[in-house]
Amino acid sequence: MGMFRTKTTAPDELHETGLKRCLSAFDLTLLGIGAIIGTGIFVLTGIAAATQSGPAVVLSFVVAGFACAFAALAYAELASAVGGCGSAYGYSYVAFGEIVAWIIGWDLILEYAVSVAAVANGWAGYFDNAMKAMGFELPDLLTKAPEAGGLINLPAAAIILVLMGLLILGVRESARTNTAMVFVKLLTIAVFVGVAMFNVNPEHWQPFMPFGWFDHAPDGKPVGVLAGASIVFFAYVGFDAVSTATEEARNPQRDVPIGIIASLVFCTLVYILVSGLLTGIVPYTELNVASPVAHALQLLGYNWASALVATGVIAGLTTVMLVLYYGLTRIIFAMSRDGLLSPLFSKVSPKTHTPVRVIVVCGVLMSLLAGLIPLGELAELVNIGTLAAFVLVCFGVVVLRIRQPHLHRPFKNPLNPVFPILGMLSCGALMAFLPAITWLRFVVWLLIGIIIYFAYSYRHSKLAGKAA
Ligand code: ALA
Repeated sequence: MGMFRTKTTAPDELHETGLKRCLSAFDLTLLGIGAIIGTGIFVLTGIAAATQSGPAVVLSFVVAGFACAFAALAYAELASAVGGCGSAYGYSYVAFGEIVAWIIGWDLILEYAVSVAAVANGWAGYFDNAMKAMGFELPDLLTKAPEAGGLINLPAAAIILVLMGLLILGVRESARTNTAMVFVKLLTIAVFVGVAMFNVNPEHWQPFMPFGWFDHAPDGKPVGVLAGASIVFFAYVGFDAVSTATEEARNPQRDVPIGIIASLVFCTLVYILVSGLLTGIVPYTELNVASPVAHALQLLGYNWASALVATGVIAGLTTVMLVLYYGLTRIIFAMSRDGLLSPLFSKVSPKTHTPVRVIVVCGVLMSLLAGLIPLGELAELVNIGTLAAFVLVCFGVVVLRIRQPHLHRPFKNPLNPVFPILGMLSCGALMAFLPAITWLRFVVWLLIGIIIYFAYSYRHSKLAGKAA
């Protein structure tokens, strides 16, 4: 059937893509860290500790970290063997066929676009506070979305437009800016660790698991370490974006797997350390606030450190938006190049070597989204979308090992198919722990995608008319 037509593993467009190959393994690792460390550790850790896991939030990070590690190995294998900037979309096109690829591409658009707009809202909160502290208070009308009593959240909308300019300028420039800001955020994390280490009170770790492994609160919401894991999973979202840089990496088959795995391992260790310390320095019940890391330092009386952490958060959230926005444009670029989305999106500027149109269209739309809709609660929607992509990428490894056993795989999962199967099970389980409303939103988004596929993409696909 036409909708299951597959692409070959060596897309010829790789050689004439127009994008510039300039990223090293180090750049890719920092892109990964740029996309990973953000709202998850600086904000959600507190919420998950206070409402779902207690001090055992550290275990939630371990559980989510394992699920991500299996997925990361699968991404590394397919990025090195299949390649392309479409990431899970491109791998699914080869392993499962067009309709599955379209669905996962559509799902990734949701994941990245909502992440950027939601993180922009968090960023704006920190930015407004910093401005206030310096005596420049913006009126409510310009800092709140209409639903929240304002006109527009201007800082949230504006930061996306600034990043748009940077991404248009070039991938080299974007990677350099990312590197500088990643160092700022790592420095502030180091300051937090340095201060917190000497202020731990082990009594705060008791009771360690007040909500157990998995249960339901009186309002029906899932609680416990596993439900916490499906929330803090958001903190890991982003390592997959490294795979969208495959066509801009100097030596993709070696460096993209390094970038994915190194950034994930590093961030997992940081998360375990930070969440363990955070719940050791103040009672977990105090952490249900917008900025738990800065708040905890304030409670201990370290106002200077708290201000420094807030600066690091602003830098950190900026890199998250930058890299996820970058990933979004490359996935849409790949889908457009395959004919599934308008060809307008796959034009590369000969001057900057960037897909300017798609960057502008995404930037304007996300800027409006971030400015006009308060998006604070959409992390769970991002999680379900990302987890679905992870399940498919793991499954893709198993399927391609069977269907194309001789494919050249510069990076291979050890003990195949054990790790990809564990990845499918663990990511699938984390999806199951998410609330019903999240599932409903996700299904609605996918149904819209399927309608667009049959109305447009099926007929415009580059593979239309060719044999399946
Ligand atoms: N992992 C990213 C964050 O935590 C999306 O902000």
